[in-house]
Amino acid sequence: MEKVINYIKSNSDNYLEQLKDYLRIPSVSTSVKHKKDMKKCADYVASQLKSAGMKKVKIIPTAGHPLVFGELIHDKKLPTVLIYGHYDVQPVDPLNLWKSPPFEPVIKNGKIWARGANDNKGQNFVHIKSVEAFKKTNTNLPVNIKYLIEGEEEIGSPNLSKFLKRNQSLLSCDAVMISDTSIYQPGVPTINYGLRGLCFMEVEVIGPNRDLHSGSFGGAVANPINVLADMISKLTDKNGKITITDFYKDVQKLTPQERANYKKLKFSDAKFAKELGVKELAGEKGFSTLERLSGRPTLDCNGIWGGYIEEGAKTVLPSKAYAKISMRLVPNQDPKTIAKLFTKYFKQIAPKSVKVNVNALHGGLPIVISLEHPAVKAAAKASSKAFGKETVFSREGGSIPIVVEFAKQLKAPTILMGLGLDTDNIHSPNEHFSVDNFKRGILASAYFFYEFAKIK
Ligand code: BES
Ligand code: MN
Repeated sequence: MEKVINYIKSNSDNYLEQLKDYLRIPSVSTSVKHKKDMKKCADYVASQLKSAGMKKVKIIPTAGHPLVFGELIHDKKLPTVLIYGHYDVQPVDPLNLWKSPPFEPVIKNGKIWARGANDNKGQNFVHIKSVEAFKKTNTNLPVNIKYLIEGEEEIGSPNLSKFLKRNQSLLSCDAVMISDTSIYQPGVPTINYGLRGLCFMEVEVIGPNRDLHSGSFGGAVANPINVLADMISKLTDKNGKITITDFYKDVQKLTPQERANYKKLKFSDAKFAKELGVKELAGEKGFSTLERLSGRPTLDCNGIWGGYIEEGAKTVLPSKAYAKISMRLVPNQDPKTIAKLFTKYFKQIAPKSVKVNVNALHGGLPIVISLEHPAVKAAAKASSKAFGKETVFSREGGSIPIVVEFAKQLKAPTILMGLGLDTDNIHSPNEHFSVDNFKRGILASAYFFYEFAKIK
């Protein structure tokens, strides 16, 4: 083990240079314009998996962007770890707010700056380099390895679920390892044990049959933007509760033990607010900030448009208004049920002066992972070793919908070894990833293979 650990330590600067090559590929999955880059990125991942010693490496076409699979089964008696990650990234807009170009990675202030640096290229690269170190030092891996790196996570993994169903034996494993979440605080090793689900809706509010002059018609005809704003504000009450009928029906209450766990994690509301540039935090009454960030469901408007938004003024009473509204869910809420409840309620609160159309985009189920599983304990031990500190356990507010599918279809526990920081600007301009977390992540990954092999 010494050999592997020393090899990793002395090669971390090389790893950063290689990560830069990965980050230079603009693999934005939402945009057709980047279809070729997606293929190029899949090829890059495949070449990396080969260099990590995978015997079987395949680029698997899907109806969307390709999947990359690799495996090294060198001893059937050893446990198998499936490493999941995604090579696709979010769009970069607004481009003008980036301090350095999103696909020209730079290292500055102990961080690597580029789109995908954290989410998820930097984090999945960790688990490629850890495995590679065994090959480079001619050390036997204490586990078998499989990789599944997809190109559609950021668009809701539309093709992966079907692939899982059809390829259960190809993907069979004893644990799934994912680094696509955050550590709790700088320097504090963290295992995340929950992810929220998601229900994403788009609404259209239709008023008069054409845009109207707001002088000739204003005062007599409902303005769809005014109506939409009013309807959105009715989705939550003054206590921050979501008003949709039966919305909380399936919500699992936080147990006293869980609330005590939340309390143990020191969290400063003041510091959090200050870093975000807000004077006061908001949200559901009766719950702490950490609880509201990961243990309770939420509703947010993600975009709203309609009418005239170009330069200067135009006195128009628009015919239509639109909004995108998403809800983060917690166990045992189901996005399909929530979509139905939302649709019913949204139509119910619409005044007769407008018509509304409601459409469900994508969704995903929430999950809470048992901390009792030996694989989780092994991961906590490994992280502690790499960071030189006690590992903490926290739930995440974000979503990785495919994790529920792993649990259901592969019947293996998932380990969420978060390595990002909530301040890394994922999905936002100036995304970055801590070089220290990157380096320690590679060590934690290598330690994990030993710890996991010990208990299996
Ligand atoms: N890496 C994130 C998930 C995440 C977000 C973890 C925040 C920790 C904190 C992942 O790539 C992501 O962005 N997921 C989407 C899911 C959606 C596209 C279905 C999300 O949470 O919005
Ligand atoms: Mn993401």
